[in-house]
Amino acid sequence: MSKLNFTSTLGGQTFNSPFLNASGIHCQTAEELADLEGVKELGGIVTKSATLEARAGNDKPRYYDLAYGSINSMGLPNSGYNFYLDYVQKEHAKPTILSVAGLSVADVIKLLKEVQASDYQGLTELNLSCPNVIGEPQTAYDFETTRKVLTEVFSFFTKPLGVKLPPYFDLVHFDQIAAVLNDFPLTHVNTINSVGNGLVVDVEKEQVVTKPKGGFGGLGGAMVLPTALANVRALRQRLNPSIAILGTGGVTTGADVFAHILCGAQLVSVGTQVIKEGLGVYARLEKELSDIMEAKGYTSLEDFRGKLQVM
Ligand code: SIN
Repeated sequence: MSKLNFTSTLGGQTFNSPFLNASGIHCQTAEELADLEGVKELGGIVTKSATLEARAGNDKPRYYDLAYGSINSMGLPNSGYNFYLDYVQKEHAKPTILSVAGLSVADVIKLLKEVQASDYQGLTELNLSCPNVIGEPQTAYDFETTRKVLTEVFSFFTKPLGVKLPPYFDLVHFDQIAAVLNDFPLTHVNTINSVGNGLVVDVEKEQVVTKPKGGFGGLGGAMVLPTALANVRALRQRLNPSIAILGTGGVTTGADVFAHILCGAQLVSVGTQVIKEGLGVYARLEKELSDIMEAKGYTSLEDFRGKLQVM
């Protein structure tokens, strides 16, 4: 590998590979972030979603591995935005994406005002989709509130900003969220967050498998791939071309990465499979993606990005 051209651009920055970590995966502590910097196949690094104050997250057990994916109810454990804002302002060999999440609209505004006032010029991603904060809704399922938040944010925020979305399941909802997002100068949308509020039952124990929220939690991994691809595709068909799509969800093979890009993804994040397989997963995915591209005679991601055919 590789005479293949894996570069992509986003928010004026060059990513040397299409791979990202999904926010929340191996990106909470300084040690984990340093590990990610050492993964040469990673194009960029996304931080754990940062809240105003550090959070311990939900009670454990809050992650459970399944043959077909995972369920989690982490509840945004993180070291607080000061830590992550400090991290992204240091020199890094790869582009960084600062993920932030508010527990209220006021929090979101305060967080992004801090980012705006800082020297950080890189990408920020506003997580509007965490399904696991007890008592808090997933903002991006409420189109009116999403519009209000973005209107207020863009009244002062002038740096590159994207949003992390939950999965949508109805074509009308794709139309509605796209109509909102197209009214703002977003660099990107990252789709999908986990499929919220699934429930896994251990039949032998006659019990749920995670503690918070009575066992309800976000689904990830292989089982969500078709939902993730549908969201990448449907949003690519509806969003302004200036808004890039980051594809997240269900990646276990290089073919899955290829499929995300074919549906229109600019970059592709890996979550559950990193937990299952470790950071070596990125080398395997790059090799598998390279093999597919070479077999098809493609030399760059642009050769097939967004070119999914229909019957
Ligand atoms: C979490 O509950 O911490 C993971 C979900 C998210 O990052 O939105």
